[in-house]
Order: sequence, then C-alpha cells, then structure tokens
Amino acid sequence: MPFKAIVFDAYGTLYDIQSVAAVTEQAFPGHGDIITQIWRIKQLEYTWLRSLMQRYEDFSVVTRESLLYALRVLGLQADAITRDRIIAKYLDLDPYPDARAALAAMKDRRLAILSNGSPAMLDGLVKASGFDAMLDAVISVDAHNIFKPSPEAYTLIAETLGLAPAEVLFLSSNPWDVCGAKAFGLNVAWIERVTPEAMAAACIKTDLVSPLTMFKALRTQMDELGFAPDYRIAALSELPEIVNTHEP
Ligand code: LAC
Repeated sequence: MPFKAIVFDAYGTLYDIQSVAAVTEQAFPGHGDIITQIWRIKQLEYTWLRSLMQRYEDFSVVTRESLLYALRVLGLQADAITRDRIIAKYLDLDPYPDARAALAAMKDRRLAILSNGSPAMLDGLVKASGFDAMLDAVISVDAHNIFKPSPEAYTLIAETLGLAPAEVLFLSSNPWDVCGAKAFGLNVAWIERVTPEAMAAACIKTDLVSPLTMFKALRTQMDELGFAPDYRIAALSELPEIVNTHEP
C-alpha cells in the first residue's frame, strides 16, 4: 500500500525562514543576517524550553519574544511599528521555489502541514502562498499546547487524519524534527539542503564564518540523537518520485 498522506513541516521545509532577512536588513542595515539567525535559533530554543518548563505560549508569542531577545542582545532599538513589520513577514514567508510544483505533483494523496506555528500564523501563511487550496489539513501543535518534537505533537497527525503513523510520510528539513518524527514512529523523509561537504567547506573558507553559516552548522546537519531518516532528498522536487515509487 502506498503512503496515504504526506505531512509537511512548515518553517524551513515548505517556507524559507531565511526570507525574513530582507526585512531585518531593511529595518537594521548591516544587521540583517545576525538578527535573522539569532531570532530563529532562539525561537526554536524557546519552543523547547517552554515545553520542558510546561509554560506553553503559542508560536506567535515565542516568535515575538525571540525577536525581542535578538534585538536586545545586539543593542538595537526598535519601535513597535518596526517590530510589527519584521514579525509580519512570518505571515508571508517566501515558499521554496519548488514547493508548489511538488504539492501539485502529489495531489492524488492527502497532503497536510504539521507545524509549531499557531493556527493564525499558519492560516496567514497558507493563504498568502495559495497552498491552502492544495492542502487537506493544516495542523497546529497548538491543539495539544506543546511543541515538536514532543510525541504529543506528532499524535495530532493520527487524530486529525485518522491514519496510523505507518501510513504517513512526514517530511522536514529540520534535523531535530526528523529525529522526533522517527522516534514517534512515522516514516520520515529529510530534505538535506546543505551537504556535509558544502558545510565543512563553508566553515574553513575563512576564519570568520557568517551568522548564516553558523546557523547552517547548527540547524541543517543531521543531529546525533540516534535516529536516521528513511529517505534523504536534496530538494522538494525529489519528493514526488519517492512518494510514487516507495511504500511504507
Ligand atoms: C515548524 C517549524 C518549527 O514546525 O519548523 O513548522
């Protein structure tokens, strides 16, 4: 039996979180890259910390608080209008260029998102990109008040779609999400957008690695958590081939 549903992570997988850099750079010329990387690194840390602390606040709060952290540590003052303009980009992130075609090529399957994003954030994102018309479900971890990679977040796929984990292919570019989904029991494909060779080369090219290179070293390479994806692809465009030729 083929996979009955393909479930996507949102941020970093279908949507390019680095696309906020144009907005952060415009607001603070010369600081766009460092703001963007500290913001995303802290945003994810806060999801894990709040989950462990049992002090859940939705992803819009986490996204705002992590931006405030980034601006504060860099000594940058932003008025409310500027902060809101930066955060607004999260509702209109650029989809990866191959995302639309990949979704369209798999329209015979049930397609869904499972994301840490709040329902309102995800609603804005899928509408802005027009992906709402191609998705059967947009699932936010908010329904269980805990972030991925908690198993309680991944159970929402079965609860929403009525499918067992073994019937579903989950796709993420985020290594920690890949490990969490594997540990939970899903079939998992990983988008490895940065090869280990390119990563190593970027880190030795100069003494001074850019914030983006540091981010990639932390958040694009497979984690040492004892789990490996079932499939590795380099781009979303390779996914339909996997879906059409493999079975769980
Ligand atoms: C998501 C982020 C955290 O869940 O990648 O969409």
